[in-house]
Amino acid sequence: MTPPPAAAPTEKELVLKVIPMPADTNGNGDIFGGWVMAQVDLAGSVLPARIIRGRMATVAVKEFVFKQPVRVGDILSFYSSVTRIGRTSITVDVEVYAESFGNQGRFVKVTEALVTYVAIDDEGKPREITR
Ligand SMILES: CC(C)(COP(=O)(O)OP(=O)(O)OC[C@H]1O[C@@H](n2cnc3c(N)ncnc32)[C@H](O)[C@@H]1OP(=O)(O)O)[C@@H](O)C(=O)NCCC(=O)NCCS
Repeated sequence: MTPPPAAAPTEKELVLKVIPMPADTNGNGDIFGGWVMAQVDLAGSVLPARIIRGRMATVAVKEFVFKQPVRVGDILSFYSSVTRIGRTSITVDVEVYAESFGNQGRFVKVTEALVTYVAIDDEGKPREITR
């Protein structure tokens, strides 16, 4: 059953909007989950990059659940907030909402994930985050 349209989360920051194209589909013609996961990784990096201000790497993602398909031409909005700043890592909570291109303002939540990024030095080793 299709859930009622959700409102976009106003307490989070909009860090990415993107419209998937036919090249991003799976065999059913719906958007490939791996493509959405890659966008979440990119979107999730925006707030940590603001704090880390240097090289960083994705160390962990918890967890992707896809309950609604995404269709070609939908507008996907990625909202993020920082949930933890550790010694060397930053975790963000990324929520993804789909909106019809021709009927905007009705948001359907597509997925949500906690993504952790580690600040790394020139050798690729974790480095302390200085603020
Ligand atoms: C990221 C990397 C440099 C971290 O080095 P590491 O020695 O494994 O990490 P550490 O155990 O010292 O932990 C570093 C930080 O990551 C966090 N971390 C490690 N594993 C984690 C996990 N499974 N979940 C959440 N956080 C995790 C630690 O808590 C620590 O954060 P803190 O200092 O803020 O507490 C290293 O694992 C790496 O190079 N990984 C590959 C990264 C990559 O290529 N990503 C793209 C994948 S295609």
